[in-house]
Amino acid sequence: MCGIVGYIGFEDASTFMMEGLSKLEYRGYDSAGIAVANAGKIKVQKRVGRLANLEALVKENPNPGHIGIGHTRWATHGRPSDMNAHPHTDEKGLFAVVHNGIIENYLPIKEELMKKGYHFKSETDTEVVAHLLADLYDGDFEGTVRRMLNRIEGSYSLVIMCAEAPDRLICTKKDNPLVIGLGKGENFIASDIPAIINHTRDTYIMNDGEVAVLMKDSVTITDRDGNPVNKEVFHVSWNAEAAEKGGYEHFMLKEIYEQPKAIRDTLTGRITDDNSQVVYEELNWTPDTIKNINRILITACGTAYHAGLVAKYYIEKLARIPVEVDIASEYRYRNPLTDEHTLAIVISQSGETSDTLAALKEAKRLGAKTLAVTNVVGSSISREADQVIYTLAGPEIAVASTKAYTTQLVALLLLANYLGQLNGRLDGQVEKHILTNLKELPTLCHEIFETVDDIKAFAKHYGFKEDAFFLGRSIDYAVAMEGALKLKEISYIHAEAYAGGELKHGTLALIEEGVPVIALATQDDVREKMMSNVKEVKARDAIVIGIGVKGDTELEKYVDHTILVPAADSFTEPILAVIPLQLLAYYAAITRGADVDKPRNLAKSVTVE
Ligand code: M6R
Repeated sequence: MCGIVGYIGFEDASTFMMEGLSKLEYRGYDSAGIAVANAGKIKVQKRVGRLANLEALVKENPNPGHIGIGHTRWATHGRPSDMNAHPHTDEKGLFAVVHNGIIENYLPIKEELMKKGYHFKSETDTEVVAHLLADLYDGDFEGTVRRMLNRIEGSYSLVIMCAEAPDRLICTKKDNPLVIGLGKGENFIASDIPAIINHTRDTYIMNDGEVAVLMKDSVTITDRDGNPVNKEVFHVSWNAEAAEKGGYEHFMLKEIYEQPKAIRDTLTGRITDDNSQVVYEELNWTPDTIKNINRILITACGTAYHAGLVAKYYIEKLARIPVEVDIASEYRYRNPLTDEHTLAIVISQSGETSDTLAALKEAKRLGAKTLAVTNVVGSSISREADQVIYTLAGPEIAVASTKAYTTQLVALLLLANYLGQLNGRLDGQVEKHILTNLKELPTLCHEIFETVDDIKAFAKHYGFKEDAFFLGRSIDYAVAMEGALKLKEISYIHAEAYAGGELKHGTLALIEEGVPVIALATQDDVREKMMSNVKEVKARDAIVIGIGVKGDTELEKYVDHTILVPAADSFTEPILAVIPLQLLAYYAAITRGADVDKPRNLAKSVTVE
């Protein structure tokens, strides 16, 4: 995730910014840059790669001054490069801008500005902000920023510097964090607290729509209409390590709670305003593109493989194209039946998993059209595939994948709709219903967080059991597999997932008094069958936690504990249902005192075979 810093005061701005950016390195980034205003001019320095590259540049070519903005970039629009790194400026170098988030309507604004003769240097959405400011500028810095805000749509935290107003920085935000640090004769801005806590612990936490003007001795905050806002000072008492985790005890928990934002970002700009169509601009397919595709292969590892299993249900139900899902390490060695009529989809959070990369190369060699779903712009897999869909989960630091998985499901559900749209197999009303629910998904996730106390209690109670079973049917079976993986990888409890119908073919022999069974029941069309499975395990005195959908008054009659996710539709409910499973795994691991973020024997990115 990108990081932002800003400084105005009496110290050397570059020194603060380089230190502040280094405190944000843990968030992941692919390039970095700073801009400092001095004697009516803004000097920008940017470098792709590690912060050390930028440090070397600044050392060689100092950038003195007492006001500056800086950024570490995690690429979303445009690959990692010097040019795409922030800050971005207009052609005259009047404005410099750093930005986290996505400017949704950057394309029409860019086209409009290009017609007026503005030249763009980067592939980013952010650069439009700098040119737009230049276009709207009438000598009033703050007024210009407000007019610019009336034009842009999307999510952002923005910090802006103007060469003609070198006594102030202006910042604002929507759906992205921004914090102001209050000093004496100096003030600070950062996207995250770790960047400033060495300098001050007194902060203003910015709210959406607020505009702050920072001078060295004052901070003035107003709302979008210019009315003053009285803010309370928030005193940060966290230590540096807790600050990195945003006050959460572990990255995994932070990332679970980041899911509403990650899902919103992944959906941004990909559904039409009337919710009738998916827009995958990066694919830009026509019915002809998929005319000759008669099967889809999905291949991946671990959690990403589980996302692929869900996608099989999505695509087969919505686009009626046969889908085969294979573990990448199996696919690459099995002499597979892949050809030029195959669309091969590889899924990988990191984009670097060696088995997935090898499977992608193999599918390509056999003539398949290839598509990667990944979270990392510029990763090996994104470069190797013919086309890429990016999930916009931001960097995932905990080894256990959470927000990467749910954003993969969102991207793949969009893809299933897109394919159905293109081949005419998907009913328009059905699609509209699903897309309407998808847009609601970030809000619905918050409702699940309200059940966290129940989940903590189950985890405490069952955290020391040595085995657990997960049951589901249809899409719920694929989600059950992810729930079991989460539990085993971080709590070291032996966990297995079964398709409900498979129970009596062997596993039922293991069900005895007190064994925890987590039964998913979100799928209406197999509900009665699932209930029979629940009764089968209850009859053997298992302890059953049922995950159902709000409005289900029956489930609680058959199980010991119930967690109900918000009602939506059979495609989006499983995305919600995995969140309680992530929380259950997390709190079970806590109960057992396990190292949640770094489970034994596992690495975040498996780049060797
Ligand atoms: O980066 P990738 O998505 O390719 O990683 C694949 C797996 O290694 C990964 O999903 C792994 O299973 C997770 N740590 C599980 O939480």
